[in-house]
Amino acid sequence: MKTLFGYSATLAAIAVAAMITGCATHTPGGASNAPSITHESFGATSDGLPVEIYTLRNDNGMEARILTYGGIIQSIKVPDKNGQMGDVVLGYDTLDGYLTNSPYFGALIGRYGNRIAKGHFTLDGQEYTLATNNVPNSLHGGIKGFDKRVWTVVEAKVEDDGPELKLSYTSPDGEEGYPGTLKVTATYTLLAKENALRLKFRATTDKDTVVNLTGHSYFNLAGQGTVLDQVVYINADKYTPVDSTLIPTGEIAPVEGTPLDFRTPTAIGARIQDDNEQLKFAGGYDHNFVINHKMGKLGLDARVTDPASGRVFEIWSTEPGLQFYSGNFLDSTIIGKGGIVYPHRGAFVMEPQHYPDSPNQPNFPSTELKPGQVYHNTIVYKFSTTE
Ligand code: BGC
Repeated sequence: MKTLFGYSATLAAIAVAAMITGCATHTPGGASNAPSITHESFGATSDGLPVEIYTLRNDNGMEARILTYGGIIQSIKVPDKNGQMGDVVLGYDTLDGYLTNSPYFGALIGRYGNRIAKGHFTLDGQEYTLATNNVPNSLHGGIKGFDKRVWTVVEAKVEDDGPELKLSYTSPDGEEGYPGTLKVTATYTLLAKENALRLKFRATTDKDTVVNLTGHSYFNLAGQGTVLDQVVYINADKYTPVDSTLIPTGEIAPVEGTPLDFRTPTAIGARIQDDNEQLKFAGGYDHNFVINHKMGKLGLDARVTDPASGRVFEIWSTEPGLQFYSGNFLDSTIIGKGGIVYPHRGAFVMEPQHYPDSPNQPNFPSTELKPGQVYHNTIVYKFSTTE
């Protein structure tokens, strides 16, 4: 069991109680697999803010580790077809990598996930200007988005459906150029029955604003190498084509007859080099898919299978879009956990969200949030094996 460092008596008591609850609900026969949630120090930011890492385990032995910095999912360990546990997300062993050189590895993204054209939008007749941190556009909430904030632990306990960590962050009015004080919670639950990690967002505002939250885990079901042989199904008949700066043109186009048609499971690498303008603009896949299931209702967005390890990943969400990014900007310069080098296309990222640049696109589902309304978004990462 991990030591509890530097915590208030209340939090320590919660964690201990959590482990006890876990033991109490455990079925006899696998004593080592009682669901639990423990935590320890993971260092401090350059401003001296302490960062903790929480370890959640379910009764199948699946484990997820989450940082209070950026709400980052630092690791997810799941079995392969032979029962061999392996870490299926990219990241770092220490905080320093996340602080200095992270392409949003595992992080919570906000206030607005994805791009806003030229860092401008108009709301209630007023123009807002954002940092163009992905020239010429604004990306993932600006220079210091939610991925670079230290979140507060609200609760850490074992619930009936598994160990749960609830984080909160209050984004002040005007932060990164966005209007309104936005109060956000992100709740992670490691579901025992389904071998799944569920992430639930809730947000409220005190002024009209725009919100588009998501999770940014880089998955590689084999744990290393490229993901080109991993086979993808996406539940989408349509997508939003982009210009050369990856801003949607406004058109909602069929995937039919394009390399973006993943309605029949296809290896990521099978068509990635096709002579196709959309793939050229993005250097591979980096597109928003218009998901077939109903917005606001949890449904299957995509499934990925790794033929070698037999690991199967499913992503479910309540969101209308799914950004599928094939790790095109990874280039072997990052040495991650366990000294593993992350090659070009060494991961896939699947981000359930509203469509990119929605604040400037009147025909896309709205991302506006008003005082009195509650923003909800649920994402579930499920794991199983082929055999
Ligand atoms: C975007 C990519 C971007 C990446 C940064 C993804 O969500 O779609 O275009 O490069 O995040 O890590």
